[in-house]
Amino acid sequence: PGQHDFVVVANRLPVDRVTGADGTPQWRRSPGGLVTALAPTMQSSGGAWVGWHGGVDEPLDEFDEGGIHQVPVPLSASELRLYYEGFSNATLWPLYHDVIVPPEFHRTWWVAYREVNARFARAAAATAAHGATVWVHDYQLQLVPRMLRDARPDLRIGFFNHIPFPPAELFAQLPWRARILEGLLGADLIGFQRASDTANFLTSVRRFLGVTARKGGVQVPGTSRVSRAETHPISIDAAHIAALAQDPDVRARAVQIRVEMGDPETVLLGVDRLDYTKGIRHRLKAYAELLDDGVVQVGQTGLIQIASPSREKVDSYQQLREEVEGTVGRINGEYDSFAATAVRYLHHSYPVEEMVALYLAADVMLVTPLRDGMNLVAKEYVMARGADGGGRLVLSEFAGAADQLRQAIIVSPHDIDGLKAAIMSGIEMAPPEAKRRMSSMRRTVESHDVNRWSREFLDSLMGNAPGTTEES
Ligand code: G6P
Repeated sequence: PGQHDFVVVANRLPVDRVTGADGTPQWRRSPGGLVTALAPTMQSSGGAWVGWHGGVDEPLDEFDEGGIHQVPVPLSASELRLYYEGFSNATLWPLYHDVIVPPEFHRTWWVAYREVNARFARAAAATAAHGATVWVHDYQLQLVPRMLRDARPDLRIGFFNHIPFPPAELFAQLPWRARILEGLLGADLIGFQRASDTANFLTSVRRFLGVTARKGGVQVPGTSRVSRAETHPISIDAAHIAALAQDPDVRARAVQIRVEMGDPETVLLGVDRLDYTKGIRHRLKAYAELLDDGVVQVGQTGLIQIASPSREKVDSYQQLREEVEGTVGRINGEYDSFAATAVRYLHHSYPVEEMVALYLAADVMLVTPLRDGMNLVAKEYVMARGADGGGRLVLSEFAGAADQLRQAIIVSPHDIDGLKAAIMSGIEMAPPEAKRRMSSMRRTVESHDVNRWSREFLDSLMGNAPGTTEES
């Protein structure tokens, strides 16, 4: 055993490599709620984080950064292709997102997935102290809970799935479906974003493992253990976003963004990783039709679409980029004038300060994924706008956030007429109603922030002693 009482295991470490002023490589804490939420617990409990450091064929020693002990897991160039780009992002990702693009099933990818999961499990086993709590994250590491349990029956193991869990009819396609379920059931507690994800998982356990699986517990086959599945919707560092929204520099930047755009009456905003699950094409289609119908005019209305680069070696992501960039080019070629442009498309990622300035500058936020585990952009927008009461949120019913942000303008991105109508009702909504909705959503996010999410998950995990057979 190792010496850490609390260990997080995720595909990526919570630090990014940056080049310091003197040209030497340094580490900086990654943006994002997960590390923010867990940092205090990790710092006070001497926690460790096991994850890939982003390098290829580059073994790296353990190090401390930001009060967290970092345990880098190396990947080879072929593992990057087979485990990360292949099984994680060309098999599981599309399969778990409603097969929006066809998942590919390759036995060589599966072998690499198993091998890399085993390496993560070994690293976690070597890091965790006797009786420690280990929290494993996301679809890249679904075999780790079981592998870790076999090596270290003394551990308390939690797993959280950040993306949707598919309906059993789709999960059925996976040749290794039973192995994945057995992998997950190595955990004492398995957390999902939406109630429907939890229900899908339990249905698959019943159907493909042939055991009784109820909300309160799954009798793990071949053992006396009971594993539980629960719904724990993730959230954001709400106080941090709210504080940034009050920051004078951020507010000045928001004003400047609108001036730079030529001071349109209405600014529409989309912020996504460039991913086919995000519904960017549907959004552009609806917007182009609104321009074509003459209900919105370039100059009066402008759309900013931030599409941050993602998984650029994977075919379906390359195809999507071509399509989106072709569509943006066609829309702008058709509708731009010398003075104004219809779509400002930015293939970049930005620091959180710039994101909050964009939220403040945007009248209507368009979050229209075809399928999304949660979507934290929607929650960030609400937190940034809840205080000034400005802004309207158009939100897809297929995002996990729709279960909580009921006051948003809820839409199906597949229904282009409905999407157009939702965008228009965002543009036209009377300020008092917009304000009422935004304040109500802000209260929801404020009282359900990422700290509460991690606390509730970990409390539930602690309440379930490893190896017990009682129902809870
Ligand atoms: C989603 C997944 C995360 C993943 C992130 C970025 O949010 O749930 O596990 O880290 O996308 O994708 P990447 O492939 O760059 O890690």
